[in-house]
Amino acid sequence: MSGSLKLVDADGIFTVFQNYGDRHYGENVTELEHALQTAEFARQFGETDNIVLSCLLHDFGHMMHDLGEDIAQQGVDAKHEVVGATLLKDMFPESILEPIRQHVTAKRYLCWKVPVYTEGLSDSSRLSLQLQGGPMTDEEAQTFEANPHYDACVRVRRYDDMGKVPDMPTADLESYRSLIEKYLL
Ligand SMILES: [Fe+2]
Repeated sequence: MSGSLKLVDADGIFTVFQNYGDRHYGENVTELEHALQTAEFARQFGETDNIVLSCLLHDFGHMMHDLGEDIAQQGVDAKHEVVGATLLKDMFPESILEPIRQHVTAKRYLCWKVPVYTEGLSDSSRLSLQLQGGPMTDEEAQTFEANPHYDACVRVRRYDDMGKVPDMPTADLESYRSLIEKYLL
């Protein structure tokens, strides 16, 4: 990642997608395709704007580390959810950031809450789950449910899991400009 990159507006975000969005996400889609699909599904299901925007940006941190594309296969958890939320923290409110920060936690939660959910995870999500701590404990789940953004976190996670469809047509990045600008601090 460039140390001089300034993330201040929609163009800054688009530049990151343009420069790094062709990274392989791990399920026959690129990072850009995965982001657009995740947001597209949220739109199709009539989600609120903040959920759609969190979906678009949830894996922003994946594009901003230099640990390689097959990081989970190397047995390393890059904490991309924290990296992404931290990079974006001066740009957006917590309603956008928290679902980004918690989308891995939400996977661990859903594995606790809905045991069959684990079976529906993609291969790479199941692999990374082990690196991320596996399903939550009862105590962790209670704490997570008390998070004021809990519902949004789980919703974003559901669309994240859907957004892995090879060659799916989607709206382009530019179609999210006004949404980004709506939430910019
Ligand atoms: Fe994702």
